[in-house]
Amino acid sequence: MKVGVFLLALLWEARSQPARRPNIVLLMADDLGVGDPGCYGNKTLRTPNIDRLADAGVKLTQHLAASPLCTPSRAAFMTGRYPIRLGMATHFRVGVYLFSASSGGLPTSEVTFAKLLRNQGYSTALIGKWHLGLNCHNTTDFCHHPVRHGFDYFYGLPVTNLRDCKPGEGTVFSMAYKTMVFFPLQFLGVALFTLAVLRFLRLIRVPLGIFIGLFLLVGLILALFLCFLHYFRPLNCFLMRNYEISQQPMSYENLTQRLTLEATGFIRRNAEKPFLLFLSYIHVHTALFASKDFANKSLHGPYGDAVEEMDWSVGQVLNVLHELGLANDTLVYFTSDQGAHVEEVTPKGQMHGGSNGIYKGGKANNWEGGIRIPGILWWPGRIQAGLEIDEPTSNMDIFPTVAKLAGAPLPQDRVIDGRDLMPLIQGELQHSDHEFLFHYCNAYLNAVRWHPPNSKSIWKILYFTPKFNPEGANGCFSTHLCFCFGDYITHHDPPLMFDVSRDPQERDPLTPTTEPRFHEILRTMQEAADNHTRSLREVPNQLSPWNIVWKPWLQLCCPSTTSLLSCECDREKQGQRISN
Ligand SMILES: *[C@@H]1O[C@H](CO)[C@@H](O)[C@H](O)[C@H]1NC(C)=O
Ligand SMILES: *[C@@H]1O[C@H](CO)[C@@H](O)[C@H](O)[C@H]1NC(C)=O
Ligand SMILES: *[C@@H]1O[C@H](CO)[C@@H](O)[C@H](O)[C@H]1NC(C)=O
Ligand SMILES: *[C@@H]1O[C@H](CO)[C@@H](O)[C@H](O)[C@H]1NC(C)=O
Ligand SMILES: *[C@@H]1O[C@H](CO)[C@@H](O)[C@H](O)[C@H]1NC(C)=O
Ligand SMILES: *[C@@H]1O[C@H](CO)[C@@H](O)[C@H](O)[C@H]1NC(C)=O
Repeated sequence: MKVGVFLLALLWEARSQPARRPNIVLLMADDLGVGDPGCYGNKTLRTPNIDRLADAGVKLTQHLAASPLCTPSRAAFMTGRYPIRLGMATHFRVGVYLFSASSGGLPTSEVTFAKLLRNQGYSTALIGKWHLGLNCHNTTDFCHHPVRHGFDYFYGLPVTNLRDCKPGEGTVFSMAYKTMVFFPLQFLGVALFTLAVLRFLRLIRVPLGIFIGLFLLVGLILALFLCFLHYFRPLNCFLMRNYEISQQPMSYENLTQRLTLEATGFIRRNAEKPFLLFLSYIHVHTALFASKDFANKSLHGPYGDAVEEMDWSVGQVLNVLHELGLANDTLVYFTSDQGAHVEEVTPKGQMHGGSNGIYKGGKANNWEGGIRIPGILWWPGRIQAGLEIDEPTSNMDIFPTVAKLAGAPLPQDRVIDGRDLMPLIQGELQHSDHEFLFHYCNAYLNAVRWHPPNSKSIWKILYFTPKFNPEGANGCFSTHLCFCFGDYITHHDPPLMFDVSRDPQERDPLTPTTEPRFHEILRTMQEAADNHTRSLREVPNQLSPWNIVWKPWLQLCCPSTTSLLSCECDREKQGQRISN
């Protein structure tokens, strides 16, 4: 009798508790190169915790970012779709958001994995960098905010880390702005002055009102611009907790420690129910920073210090999972949003960008160095330890992978470009599901990759390549970043072709002589590209000039209690108390 009741109780328990869906922890570095982690071959940077993930999990060695730039790559990561489908790819020069007060962003009509998992009962949090927009029309609509995209909780940086966010460092952005705004304005001023002189000499006739109006306009734009530069740091570099600003300007002091504490706090609070944590590091984008325990400790200057501090943070997250007995129930993914920014060298010659290992190029171009990223998946008991997979995979694959694990059906009304990774990782598939991958430079189709079924070859064609400079360099040092149009690129017709399975460094372009099937391969790849292009729909451009400029009326401000006219506050101490 007693046994019967016990069995019934067990049965009831089993029925009311469906197989536990795994927790999902996604760790993303910013601008970390595939040549940086120890487990990807670096002998001098110390990343014991990332290596620990790889030792006990699977290491992807042909893991590809959907774009070599932050904003589009992250948009694709969140949605499992090519950035061009989302309107998150531009034909213009600037392909990312630079301002917290611009109006573009990930459209709310898009479905992120966070939305899918929240609908499945997951607790969801984004800690760290977002970079996918904030507001549309006013300072309170928060139409692109992480909470609108499926995260229950957001703590972090709405835009991105920039050199200009760190006192005493900022020149990169201000310089670019100077050439784009300041110099044209100066020109305009000189032109107006000349006209005024001509009018004074009665050589031309223009009503006085028009002159005064034009002068005032130029003066106003100039004043706004100077104000903006002066206030850039507080206006753009701030931390938010959900919809509230928690620190403006953001302080770098113990920043990684604070993010880590938020992340581990979130895990502790949700140990009893399934959760999704996206820990999106501010490391290792410039401005580089590290706390006292890590500063000046690595063999690679401030860059190495930043990587090693981030690695420490990865270790803290793993430790908490083990401590709470959640390791076997948690899938952990580690990656970077794109290749290392090789042009990040200080005027004194110190490397502030990472290493892309043996690969050519880096961030902002589609040589392998720009898009090959670390990709590690860890799930003790479910993923075989120490596995290495060299099949093409994409950061868009996380979307369908975690959706499936959470039991969420994929949206049927749109194209999903990612593929479920589990069959490949668990050995049910030997060959990647990605027969073709399309590599965009902003909105320009730059390259195509083809991994034919039943073949080891991985063909890659490039329609154009950036003009590296100076001669013989591995990047575009004069512009600090490669661009994808005009005089900045070389077109190739026929496209350059490589078999990256044999020539991962893309050194020897194939020709009809060295590859007898050259034209046949090219035809198939061109057809696939045409098919892909036909599948695209016209969508609003979220990165149009109008959508990326600074709009004063969208500027968030945490009013200072001590000084009028300034945005400055620090609610961090208070916040930490709440979240612990
Ligand atoms: C901000 O914009 C939203 C959406 O357009 C609107 O509903 C809301 O009323 C606006 N808020 C203010 C304060 O204007
Ligand atoms: C940063 O962390 C160190 C060591 O934990 C601590 O001594 C220091 O007070 C912290 N600084 C701030 C501003 O919290
Ligand atoms: C690290 O070295 C730099 C340059 O030598 C120095 O300015 C800084 O104070 C050092 N930081 C620490 C925490 O030792
Ligand atoms: C290791 O990383 C550092 C910092 O990015 C880099 O300078 C070095 O070349 C890398 N080593 C290898 C073998 O890639
Ligand atoms: C986790 O899974 C492994 C392998 O299946 C097993 O040996 C270990 O005991 C499990 N740990 C816990 C805490 O359940
Ligand atoms: C392109 O699309 C057509 C029609 O759907 C299909 O028959 C063909 O196999 C596709 N080509 C490639 C290379 O995928």
